[in-house]
Amino acid sequence: MHTGLDWYAARAALEWQMEMGVFEVISEGPVDRFAIEVEAKAAREQKKRGGTGVAAPIVQEPEVDPVAEAAAAAKAVGTLDSLKAALASFEHCELKRGARNLVFSDGVPGARVMIVGEAPGRDEDLQGKPFVGKAGQLLDRMLAAIGLNRAESVYITNVMPWRPPQNRDPKPEEIAMMKPFLERHIALAEPDVLVIVGNISCQALLGKRGITRLRGQWAEACGKPALPMFHPAYLLRNPAAKREAWADLLELKAKLGA
Ligand code: URA
Repeated sequence: MHTGLDWYAARAALEWQMEMGVFEVISEGPVDRFAIEVEAKAAREQKKRGGTGVAAPIVQEPEVDPVAEAAAAAKAVGTLDSLKAALASFEHCELKRGARNLVFSDGVPGARVMIVGEAPGRDEDLQGKPFVGKAGQLLDRMLAAIGLNRAESVYITNVMPWRPPQNRDPKPEEIAMMKPFLERHIALAEPDVLVIVGNISCQALLGKRGITRLRGQWAEACGKPALPMFHPAYLLRNPAAKREAWADLLELKAKLGA
């Protein structure tokens, strides 16, 4: 593509993009996908009218309730594999369009401990697995400290199966849309206990935020004992809070031993 920029300006523009986090070139020019969608919709409407351009009554598409659609899709499945397939074909969450991969789960389905994180970050989006970046490595070390690991004794998922752009917090309507899938996920995985890491997960499963207050106190979510804990990403930023996290891990260990 000829940009009209000289070499130095083009290089500066490239460096700026890399600084902003761009790490891969997908196509030479920008694509306005919203415009494509609008044009496609107009073409469909035109086709419906017989392509004559003559105004005909516009058939109102029925309003879709994404939460109801999610609830029906989640209810219809009976295995974790079919739940994953149902999520993969769920088209109402905008986050799906910007994500590279569906991040469904890792670890051992049926393990006694199920960890529910918030949403995938860049590494998780690239690999299609939850908690594989720096926060995930800390989570693995925390679990190892009480004799747990994802190869044998822990099952892991997130509230959101797709990465939000720039790692922003998921919106309440996005959480509401994914909640029926999460509830079904927990029912099918049948853990003895849930560990809820971070505020987004507390919001989704307990209906409240305030992890500093909630952490370390057993609650109930989806009919299971649930222990809210600090998110490992928070612990990376606030190492002093590891003391509380350690207390919570011991609490979890005691529950499993009981
Ligand atoms: N943070 C989360 O909550 N989940 C992940 O999978 C990664 C980071």
